[in-house]
Amino acid sequence: MRKIVIAGNWKMHKNQAESLAFVQAFKSEVENVGENQEVVLCAPFTSLTAMSKSLHGSKIKLGAQNIHWEDEGAYTGEVSGNMLTEIGISYVVVGHSERRQYFGDTDETVNLRLKAAQRHGLIPILCVGETREQRDAGEIENVISNQIKKGLAEIDQSNLIIAYEPIWSIGSGDTCESTEANRVIGIIRQQLDNKDVPIQYGGSVKPKNIDEIMAQSEIDGALVGGASLDPASFARLVNYQS
Ligand code: PGA
Repeated sequence: MRKIVIAGNWKMHKNQAESLAFVQAFKSEVENVGENQEVVLCAPFTSLTAMSKSLHGSKIKLGAQNIHWEDEGAYTGEVSGNMLTEIGISYVVVGHSERRQYFGDTDETVNLRLKAAQRHGLIPILCVGETREQRDAGEIENVISNQIKKGLAEIDQSNLIIAYEPIWSIGSGDTCESTEANRVIGIIRQQLDNKDVPIQYGGSVKPKNIDEIMAQSEIDGALVGGASLDPASFARLVNYQS
């Protein structure tokens, strides 16, 4: 059975005090989450240590939002795998469209970051997705196939999550039709050697659309930005109705 993974991507939101207040309010909301489901919070680096202590013994797992491919060195502003594992991090988001768009991540550096994550025993969440222009030009299959092929070169598919995030749907309120997300995720799965890799949908996932999204046969979870910032809203997402 494929694992279900609902992950919150807080991006550059919440200082340490705000992160801990979220954890306090949210912690008890995962009591009824099934054995086969993971709940992950990908918080800013500055919050992770305190959250890790506060979540000790909880089912909630922590994720980082970036990882460098070297273990240490002269890489100002970057963070390495052993810095993350030391404080109890389990997941890391790699190749998010915002990193690709604003911070120069390419399929090649994404691949290096994925390898580093796996080398340190972290589970990478590889994000892929097309722009509106690429979709309108009928290039979805090409774009996604390329991102998957280059991103996953020499990557162990037994320790991996993929998130399909159409860029036009991120933070826009313009959610991809769940049947269309299901179709694209099916195409991604066809390209994988391991058909059991959990594949999430991401892009304006909200309490009002989570049930429909999770009802799709190919969709194994969600990567959630805006709607993961509020404890009540994220609680509704992780306790989706199937
Ligand atoms: P959103 O962000 O839920 O705010 O659209 C999703 C993401 O960027 O992972």
